[in-house]
Amino acid sequence: MLSNKTIILGITGSIAAYKAAEIASQLTQAGAKVNVIMTKEAIEFISPVTFRALTGNPVVTEMFDLASEFSIEHVSLAKSADIVVIAPATANIIAKLAAGFADDMLCCTVLATRAPVVIAPAMETNMYDNPITQDNLSKLEARNFVIVGPATGWLASGKEGLGRLADINDILGSIRHILDRDGDLAGKHIVITAGGTQEPIDPVRYISNRSSGKMGYALAEAARDRGARVSLITAPTSIPKPAGVDVIKVNTAQEMRQAVENVTSQADALIMAAAVADYRPKSTANEKIKRRDAGLTIEMECTPDILGIVKGNFIKVGFAAESSKLVENAKEKLKQKGLDFIVANDITASDSGFGVDTNRVTIIDREGRIDSLPLMPKRDVAERVFDRVAELLPKPKSR
Ligand code: C5P
Repeated sequence: MLSNKTIILGITGSIAAYKAAEIASQLTQAGAKVNVIMTKEAIEFISPVTFRALTGNPVVTEMFDLASEFSIEHVSLAKSADIVVIAPATANIIAKLAAGFADDMLCCTVLATRAPVVIAPAMETNMYDNPITQDNLSKLEARNFVIVGPATGWLASGKEGLGRLADINDILGSIRHILDRDGDLAGKHIVITAGGTQEPIDPVRYISNRSSGKMGYALAEAARDRGARVSLITAPTSIPKPAGVDVIKVNTAQEMRQAVENVTSQADALIMAAAVADYRPKSTANEKIKRRDAGLTIEMECTPDILGIVKGNFIKVGFAAESSKLVENAKEKLKQKGLDFIVANDITASDSGFGVDTNRVTIIDREGRIDSLPLMPKRDVAERVFDRVAELLPKPKSR
């Protein structure tokens, strides 16, 4: 979705300027045309040569550089931009933008552009907390600039505090979200569940399954990138929180049920990619169960069938992990749970299903259409799922 987009990356004089190299690299790898503008203070921290190499494009550092194709008509970059991102943004650039200054190429470009502008502040805590900086940020926000971060953590001053550049994934997530806010899921609320629930036996042990959560997280990112508001209800996983997504953490099937019921009241679609435990221990011991030579028998009971129970006027999509009779079993679940369609996958193959980055799925809908897809990355499976969801949803109103 970033291909054919022109992104202006403004870099200002903060120690976090080195992180802009990773942003430039990731955006370029994702297919965007990245034009970097650096202030003269930024050049003290990192060389323009780095960005020239990473983006393959000339880097603008001066307003009156006669060798640059952009500097003569100083608003040409501003016109070409689909989005302007300033990361890191110092207190100084924030103040200049809030006051409408145009005394360097970055300020000129921001003033001249009609594209959305993302600002990722990075500075010392006291500078960030200062009411002057806060006022300036409020001014920019009131004018529809998108502020990402800052985060809390270790600062160049040697202290811990608020002022670190936001996580790069958060910055990239905001860029994707803004660029695709007119995507085919724009204005829709999509609820996604992910991961394997954990059903406690005692304070230290639980019963769970091999789900990694990768499919659910890929779905959340795909829906976000197509413009949806996404609620991701997740059982424990080792995957970092996706940017621009509301994450609700749960452990058990019962907690997941509660969360699904809470957030689906206004949902347009529910996609249950979570591997919800079908059984849980009938009771949870208050103390750690001691080892006994006689062994241990745990009595299990059924968990609530969330998809089967949850009611509402939204599209319902289930996943079916099957080790035999894939289509037959999936069709049965589709009917039993009253789904719009089900995504079935054969978990006996090593390149598909639990834990891996790829999946080979068959999508079966309530009309009986069976679509067997080849092996593909989970993100691509997610796109195919949302192609189907988008077909079923009323078309978004043009804005
Ligand atoms: O476990 P099963 O194969 O029946 O799961 C099929 C679908 O039902 C999945 O989408 C899963 O998330 C959902 N499910 C559920 N509540 C359960 C068990 C499964 O919503 N207790």
